[in-house]
Amino acid sequence: MVKAIAVVTVSDSCFTDPAKDTSGPTLAGFAKQLFPDATLHTIIIPDEKDIIERELLYFSDEANVDLVLTTGGTGLSRRDVTPEATKAVIHRDVPAISVAMTIDSLQKTSMAMLSRSVAGIRNRTLIINFPGSKKAVTECFEVVKPVLSHAVGLLT
Ligand code: MTE
Repeated sequence: MVKAIAVVTVSDSCFTDPAKDTSGPTLAGFAKQLFPDATLHTIIIPDEKDIIERELLYFSDEANVDLVLTTGGTGLSRRDVTPEATKAVIHRDVPAISVAMTIDSLQKTSMAMLSRSVAGIRNRTLIINFPGSKKAVTECFEVVKPVLSHAVGLLT
């Protein structure tokens, strides 16, 4: 059962001006719709690897969140380090989640090649990176939605 979810927006510009964050609230809305009884945490942080790691560790080890959904920082620019921070904290990767998002997304945009999203498990927490736009999270959430409940159930 999914009891707690964290949606982590990783973006320098959204950190400076939270009103710019459209992907985080969109992802949070989808999560709430799918798991209405779950506690939902949301946070906006800058594209800093140590801060991203710290928050991922907090949500998995301290807050005991079942599912952490990050959005942003998966691309190719110098500041895009969400995948590196995620890889640093997960114990096991679940590559097919990212592969499935990429395969599906490529049917919508070739730009999907430019996301380096990672998915993996830290203890009992499933962490999934999403790209950082409302359009991208909408498309990618549809792909993972059918497996989320079962995936989290396997971790408990
Ligand atoms: N995936 C889907 N489904 N739809 C999109 O519009 N945008 C791409 C890609 N993945 C996109 C997508 C773009 S334009 C970029 S640059 C990369 O995700 C990385 O985005 P990020 O750096 O905001 O995480």
